[in-house]
Order: sequence, then C-alpha cells, then structure tokens
Amino acid sequence: MTTTIIIGGGGQQHDDNGGRDHDDHDDHAAAGAASPFCFLPSACSQHDVVPHMITRSPRGFGLDKPIDPMPYFRARHFGSKDIVQNRLIPPDAECSPLRRDFLRTSLALASGASATDPLFTAANPQPVGDNSFPVRGDELRSVIIDTDPGQDDAMAILFALGANKLLDVKAITAVAGNVPLPLTERNARIIRDWADRTHSLPVYAGCPGPLQRALVTAADVHGRTGLEGVDLHEPRAPKESEHAVAYLVDTLRAAQPHSITLVAIGPLTNLATALIKAPEITQGVREIVIMGGAYFERGNVTPAAEFNIYVDPEAARTVFACGVPITVLPRDVAVKAPITPARIAPIRALKKHCGAIVADLMAAEVAYQERRHGIASAPMYDPSAIGYLVNPALYTGRKVNVEIETAGEWTLGETVVDWTGRSMRAPNAVWITEVDADGFYAELQECIANLP
Ligand code: BDR
Ligand code: CA
Repeated sequence: MTTTIIIGGGGQQHDDNGGRDHDDHDDHAAAGAASPFCFLPSACSQHDVVPHMITRSPRGFGLDKPIDPMPYFRARHFGSKDIVQNRLIPPDAECSPLRRDFLRTSLALASGASATDPLFTAANPQPVGDNSFPVRGDELRSVIIDTDPGQDDAMAILFALGANKLLDVKAITAVAGNVPLPLTERNARIIRDWADRTHSLPVYAGCPGPLQRALVTAADVHGRTGLEGVDLHEPRAPKESEHAVAYLVDTLRAAQPHSITLVAIGPLTNLATALIKAPEITQGVREIVIMGGAYFERGNVTPAAEFNIYVDPEAARTVFACGVPITVLPRDVAVKAPITPARIAPIRALKKHCGAIVADLMAAEVAYQERRHGIASAPMYDPSAIGYLVNPALYTGRKVNVEIETAGEWTLGETVVDWTGRSMRAPNAVWITEVDADGFYAELQECIANLP
C-alpha cells in the first residue's frame, strides 16, 4: 500500500548531546549517526511512503507535487505538526484549535486511527482511577518485546518469559540504545538461552541508530557489554535474518485486529520506523506499553528527559501520535518500586539459575546507584512494563495528552504531560504514576520462579 504524507518545510536539527545532566545515564558515548532507512531490507523500501511537500499560499496550505523521498527522510521536524493528511487546510483554520488539532493528530489519522477513536475525541484527561485497571486475568496476551538489553531489559524479558500463563512472547526485536545494536541483539539471544528459549523465541535485529540523530548509549550504567554483573556465554543460536522492522510490519499487517501488544523498553526507533513504513499496521496492535518518559520526576539523562525518549525523540513523537492505545510506565513510577537489597534477597533465595541472574543484575543496578549517589536503591525501570501487563490492578494512572519535545534547547526529549487538561489537546496515552510496589515484587518473584 502506498501512503501519501505531506510534509511541512524542514526545521533545525538540534544535536543536543550537550546540556546532559550527569545522573544515572551520564557519560553516554555517541556511537555514530544512522538513519534506520539505510538498513531496511528491500521488503521495507522507503519508496512505499510517498512524501509530498506542503506549500503555503495566500489561500492557505496546499498540496504541491510529490517530492523525492530523501528530503523527506532528512526533514528535521518529523512531528505531527509538520505532517498532515492529503487534503487542503483552509486559511482561517490556520490558528484555530481545529487546525492545531488536525495537524497534531494527522499522523495518527494517516496511520489508520479513526477520528472517532475516544483517544482523539475526549479533550479532557480522564483519571484511570485508583486501582481501576482490570485485575489479573487468565487471558493469554500475544506480546512482542522491543528492547535494548541492558540490565533491566534482561530482567524484564525474563519476567515476561516467566509469566507464560499470561504473556505469549512471540519475538524479541532489538534496537540500539543502552549499547550499540550488535550488542543488544546478542544480549537478547543470551537472555533467551538463560530461559531455555533458544529455539522457541526468535530474535530480530532492528535499527542501529535513531531516526535523525547520533546514537547516545548508556554503557556507563549497563557496562561495556550492556549486561555487566553477570557472566555471558556465546549465544547458542543466531538471530533471524529478517530485519526487525520487516518482521514487525509483516506480523502486524497479518495479525488479527487489535491482537498484539507491543512492549517497548528501549528507544522507539524500530516501532516508529515500522509505523512510517506501513501506517496500516496499527490495525494489528492492541496496545503499546512503553517504559519511558518522566513528568513528576526529573529526567535521568538531562533534567528534562528520560533516556529512552531522549535517545530518539522523533521516533517517540511518531509513536505517541500513531493512534493506538498507549500506556506509559515512566520514571515517575519506576522510582516508586525501587530495587533494594531486601527485595533482591527473596529472588536470590529461589535457588534458580534465572533467579540468580536477576538478583545479580538487580545488585549491579543498586551498586551503580550506591557509587553515584551513596544510596543502596535503584529505580525499577523496564520490568515495570511487564508488571503492568501481568497485573494491571497494581497500577494507577490517568488518560492524558503527551507530547514529545523535539526542538528544545534544554528540554530535548521531554515528555510534556498535560496532567490537568490545560492544553485541551486530546488524550493519547495512559500515564501511570502509582504502583503497589510489594505487589509488583511478589509478581516478579513468582514469575522468575517459573524459569530454569
Ligand atoms: C531506561 O533507560 C535504559 O537505560 C533502561 O534500560 C531503561 O529502558 C530507563 O530510563
Ligand atoms: Ca531498556
């Protein structure tokens, strides 16, 4: 299918590696600029998206002739404000809320979301309520984990694999993030070996760098390998030959409507690339559960930004505009279920191979925080996304509008959460703020106990 997207004139690239707050993701190494489109196999041709340049005249905005794809991929502000659907915008709408709304949600609409979807018609934030999520059920959810392992990614993947009565993990798609892609995909294969899933859990390698920026890693936190704190073996089986984006596109296109849950616990580059390549894949998505962002807590890369969003803010913006239900487990909730020595002990006491690995990874995270801040406690990041899927009743959040800052001098990658509905922008995500921490650790322990 060919999709026409109209693009506004370019903006300015903000190569904002300076200004980082040296918190728990400091000293990130720039690992080279890359456009994911360079790495798509022929099945993922960029020519499937036909961009058009939007022009401005006294009559308003109009559709000009199609432009060559490459300027499109170089367009700096790849955000909903610059992308509109294939139609004219009347001049009197230029400054109206209507036009703003239209521009804001246009990518989502172009991606196949219905204009009557409640996400885009409810203008005010709706509290999810105190523990109003459904309680733990018997339903088996089909899940794809998009990840950049990473110590806490490894814990999250093992947690999900141990929750096999609730989560049917179909594949792991690796993305560059905590460490470069060759390491994240390799680590994913090592993790599946730990869980004895070598031959029943495919691993796909995806995008080696953000949509528009140089890769920023967190090797200082996760170690040179990405999995510091545990012994690593040579992976027992190779990765799949297909690109992760091609796998996502093919799988979601062919999936039953709203059947697959995407768990995104790294930078959102793979998911955004799949959505750009084939907007219609939203049909197969039930929910995207994202670990990322910070609102009530400050960022961990800069004062404003959390790592996963900061690394690829344009990708995050694309995903938040895609129109499917999104649930966000931000830093706000990660810090409310901290890893402590007292919470590591029962997992080690399971006397399981995977239990020891998870305990060692947790201990490595605590040791890092202790070195940096003198406190024996670390935020529990990526496993929170699995905790939410395993037992949503442990969580509380609010349905809000979330926009991603892609141009700020000091705020690049900030998740701008309209908690009070001040902007009147339509909600596009559920933002989780509270967790029953003891309940979470009980679930983690129970699931890890199911593993070898
Ligand atoms: C996120 O950043 C990464 O380092 C972790 O794996 C997690 O996904 C937390 O900010
Ligand atoms: Ca991660």
